[in-house]
This record gives sequence, C-alpha cells and structure tokens, in this order.
Amino acid sequence: MSSDADHPQTARLVFGDKEIELPIIVGTEGEIGIDISKLRARTGAVTFDPGFANTAACKSEITFLNGEEGILRYAGYPIEELAEKSTFLEIAWLLFYQELPTKDQLREFRDEIRYHTMLHEDLKRFYSALPKAGHPMAICAATVGALSTFYQDVKFDDPAEQRRAAAIRLIAKFPTIASYSFKHSIGQPFMYPRNDLEYTENILHLMFSNPCEEYVPDPVVAKALDLLLILHADHEQNCSTSTVRTVGSSHANLFASVQAGISALWGPLHGGANQKVIEMLMAIKEGNRSAKEFMALAKDKNSGVRLMGFGHRVYKNYDPRARILKKACDDVLKKMGTDNPLLEIAMELEEIALRDEYFIERKLYPNVDFYSGIIYQAIGIPVDMFTVFFAMGRLPGWISQWLEFHRDPLSRINRPRQIYTGPKLRHY
Ligand code: SDX
Repeated sequence: MSSDADHPQTARLVFGDKEIELPIIVGTEGEIGIDISKLRARTGAVTFDPGFANTAACKSEITFLNGEEGILRYAGYPIEELAEKSTFLEIAWLLFYQELPTKDQLREFRDEIRYHTMLHEDLKRFYSALPKAGHPMAICAATVGALSTFYQDVKFDDPAEQRRAAAIRLIAKFPTIASYSFKHSIGQPFMYPRNDLEYTENILHLMFSNPCEEYVPDPVVAKALDLLLILHADHEQNCSTSTVRTVGSSHANLFASVQAGISALWGPLHGGANQKVIEMLMAIKEGNRSAKEFMALAKDKNSGVRLMGFGHRVYKNYDPRARILKKACDDVLKKMGTDNPLLEIAMELEEIALRDEYFIERKLYPNVDFYSGIIYQAIGIPVDMFTVFFAMGRLPGWISQWLEFHRDPLSRINRPRQIYTGPKLRHY
C-alpha cells in the first residue's frame, strides 16, 4: 500500500465558478483513482472517455496488471510462477476464492466438475440445426446461452449457491460444448466425456477420440494445453470480461452473461486475434507477402492491415504471457519432435517490429495471441477453434469477475452516459 505522502488525498476540480474536491481511491499496488461518482450531481458535467482507457469500472481483488512493467498476477501470485507450478483447475479455484485450494479442496473441486461434464441429450440435437461450416465461436455462444434453458427451474434458497452451481456446470460443460462444435464441423460423432480422465486430458479425449479409436493424451500435449489455459484464465477488465460484468449487472444469469463474453472475445481486435495471427503467418509463408512487405503495410494507416498479435491497451511492454508462450513454443515443438515454419516467421516479424521506430514509439509488443497459435497447432487444434480455446481458458476469469460483481456492495446496473451531438429540437 503506498503511503499517504505518495499521493494527494483529494483531487481539486475547478469548473467555471465552481471548485470541487474529489476523493482519491488507492489500490493495494498504489494505483490511484479519482472518485467521480458524485461529479454530475455536483457539476452537471460527465467525463468523456471513449474506450474507457482512463476509467476504472470497479475495484477488484482478482487480477493485477502493470502494463508499464509487464506484470500479471492472479490474486498476488506472479503468472510466471503459476505457469510453471500450478494447474488450470487450481487456478480456477484461485480466481474464484482468491486463495490457493488445499489438496482436499482441489480434489473435491475436481470431482465436482468431473461429474458435471455431460450435456443434456436434447442439447446435442441443437448442433444439427447449425451449418457444419458455422464458426465454432458462434456455435459455442449459442449453446452456452441455451444451457440456461435446462436449469431455469433449478432454484436454491441461497442465490450464491445458485450462482456457484451455474459456475461449476459451466466450467465442467464448456469443453464438451466446444468439442461438439468441432466434431459437428467434421461430421464425426460426439464423444462422451470420461470420468477417469483429468480435466485437460478429457478435453483432448473429447476433441480427438472417435468411436473407432481412443485418443491417448500425450503428457507433453496435456501439459502444453494446461499452460495455455492457465495463461488465458483472467486479465482484469478486458473487453469480454467487462461485457460479462455488464450483462450480469442487469442480473441476467451466468450463462447469458458468459454467452455475451464469448461473442465479445470473438472480435479480431480481442481474442479473435489468435486465429488472425496464424492466418497472417500462413499468408507470409505461402509467399503472398514477405515479412518486410507485411510490416510496411502494418505501418500504413490506409492499408487496413495490422500486425495481429501485437499491441495492447494496457501492456506498453512485453506481455508476460507472450514471453512464456514464446519459450513454450520451442519446448513443445522439441518435445514433440516437430517444427513449425510459422514460428520462424513469427520470430522474424518480432525481430523487425522491435527494432522499428513505428512500433517502438507506440510501445507495441507481442501480446498473448502472437505465439499461442503455434502451440495450438502443435497440439492439433484447428485454426478456427483457437478462439474457442481462448474462451475455454478465460472461463474461470469471466465467472470469478461476475461472482465478484455480485458480491460487491457498490455494484449497480452498468449504464454509462453520453454526450449528445445530434439535431436539436425540431417538429415533424
Ligand atoms: C487481447 O485487454 C486485454 O487484456 C485483452 C487480452 C486479454 O487477455 O483479455 O490481452 C487479449 O485481446 C490481446 C489483443 C489482441 N488483438 C490484437 O493483437 C489485434 C492487433 N492489436 C490492435 O488492434 C491493438 O493494439 C489493440 C486492439 C490490442 C489495442 O488497441 P488500442 O489500445 O485502442 O490502441 P490503438 O488501436 O489506439 O493503437 C495505438 C496506435 C495506433 O496508431 P496511431 O493512431 O497512434 O498512429 O498503435 C497502432 C494504431 O494504429 N497500432 C498498431 C497495432 N496496434 C496498435 N499498428 C499496427 N499493428 C498493430 N497490431
């Protein structure tokens, strides 16, 4: 906690003939917020902040980012340590409760999830109504939304119990939902989840087993997937998480809130970037453009081309997740005895960008999406499923932030103001 001497106690705003003092909020890592919750009542004015780049929507105890220094911590634990030592379900518990689970708590949590992985048989028919070529993000968003129709009569006396039950069901069933969107697209039968497999192994079984042949998860592949899920698990108030909080702020149920989060994540400026990165690298590999030509386009505003996987609203330094993933690419490819020419192209692009004034002055570095696709490909995940796997990883983050919203006494429905610039009064 920074000492009071490090920052002023209030902010003074001089506005016309008014002078008001605004309270200061200071976070545990010294972040300073000017509390404007009474601004309009006291001045008649609102703030204007397109994209909310300067606006904190909430206080949160879950994830801390320091964009200038490239720091990411879940409940105080550095992402580098968690990536090396933890597992995805342990991280899910950490995000839900902001404490690491005991061995017994983790075992019970794993078992509770293990026995909720199946979908209602009627829900499986939902997929047959959708085109095989439909993007799996659209299919997963629709299916998660439809989940609520199977639990609308499940009532708990304690709303917190109701919310926890929905959280367990979502974490348990999303891999099944995701794998069915893939199986539907390739015309293969849906596999049932297996209770004898751990969470990440079950995902690989659901994706790659078929009735004629059981997929035996390679421990290297399972570990690589678990790492990807850990690195994507939460990232404070990003676009999709803010969407989940906003939909939840109207007291819509968790399934509806996460459905909206999946849709927000799909955008190419957000989670959809991981698919765009691989498509960009493949275009360069196929010789449509050289890396140098591509970089020239990425710097040209009128080209409409961006170096996908680069840049970040918060990180003005190397995204710590990209650093971990870049190293993991090498490890996983070596352990699997494969190589991926796209990795060399990605490293060449990074080399060029990090020496180029355009990227340096804008503080554009590789983000989580720049290298993740190389590992998804090594695991055998098809490109149009990359963002679905981003969503699978982000699920505990969305849920924990949604649960925190409902615990926060300051929470109210999210409803920003605007500055109207349309026509003045006129008559029909
Ligand atoms: C994720 O918020 C999160 O935490 C998200 C995330 C998470 O875990 O939830 O980290 C996951 O979404 C990562 C980001 C994935 N998206 C991409 O890789 C798409 C490419 N990146 C950009 O579109 C962009 O960098 C954003 C969307 C990530 C950030 O956008 P901002 O903060 O609104 O920044 P901006 O668009 O205003 O860019 C600032 C400048 C502009 O140039 P100028 O107008 O100042 O001259 O940088 C340029 C931009 O044109 N720029 C890029 C660029 N990113 C920004 N130029 C070329 N290539 C890029 N990738």
